[in-house]
Amino acid sequence: MTRRLALVGLGPGDPELVTAQAARVLNEVDYFLVADKTEQHPGTADLIAMREAICARHVRKKRRLVSVPDPERDRTDPPDYEGAVRTWHEARAVRWEQTLLDHPGDAAILVWGDPTLYDSAIRLAHRIVERGVVDVEVEVVPGLSSVQLLAARHGLVLNTIGGSITITTGRRLLEDAAAGGDNLLVMLDGTLTCRRLPDPAGWRIWWGANLGSAHEQLVAGDLDRVADEIWARRALARQACGWVMDTYLLRRGGVSREPADPG
Ligand SMILES: C[S@@+](CC[C@H](N)C(=O)[O-])C[C@H]1O[C@@H](n2cnc3c(N)ncnc32)[C@H](O)[C@@H]1O
Repeated sequence: MTRRLALVGLGPGDPELVTAQAARVLNEVDYFLVADKTEQHPGTADLIAMREAICARHVRKKRRLVSVPDPERDRTDPPDYEGAVRTWHEARAVRWEQTLLDHPGDAAILVWGDPTLYDSAIRLAHRIVERGVVDVEVEVVPGLSSVQLLAARHGLVLNTIGGSITITTGRRLLEDAAAGGDNLLVMLDGTLTCRRLPDPAGWRIWWGANLGSAHEQLVAGDLDRVADEIWARRALARQACGWVMDTYLLRRGGVSREPADPG
């Protein structure tokens, strides 16, 4: 019999930001699945606990939470980088597939934020279907992403009038800015790479850390003036929560200095 595999976006940390649809699906499945990266990143144990707490607010009957340890990834610079990533993806698919075989019933993968943005659950689920060992029907349940929460907290429109927005990562930021990007939304940046932009005085930043948590931090201003404060507040967020995740919008000074640009 075909089983259900729901990829449920839980939003970026605040139980109030879980959609009614996500709550319904969480109540319909038999158990929850979560990727466990604690071996590679010890701080992420708190994030698993937070997911559990978010679900507890919305599920009537407690479900079992099955965590699936992530296989070790080759983080040296292997000569065949793409091949190494493919091998790692396959190892993950096999591990998740085995977990589904070990635990019958309908399952929901608990995804932080929205599954369509910098998350591997959708690719993983497609691979499980392709392999054909377990018979699952995949459904994606959207969640509010950290990007949307950042924009809401600052009262921002992400695009400039008639303009575009680039969603990028800390690793790519300098390259994207050098290529002329002037409205950049940055995720996955553990070192606040914007401090290395060659022209910090030319940018404005809207930054947020641990959005949706009780220790949320927000700063906005000219990059050269607020970068040190952001770095200090980042440390505060980590101290208070045991983990820190931050997202920011960078806009070149001349594009628009109006935070509430009507779009
Ligand atoms: C692996 S990605 C997951 C993104 C997630 N799928 C989403 O929709 O927000 C993790 C990155 O998302 C951002 N992020 C996630 N949750 C956040 C939060 N509560 N506050 C600020 N940034 C967050 C950070 O840039 C973090 O490095």
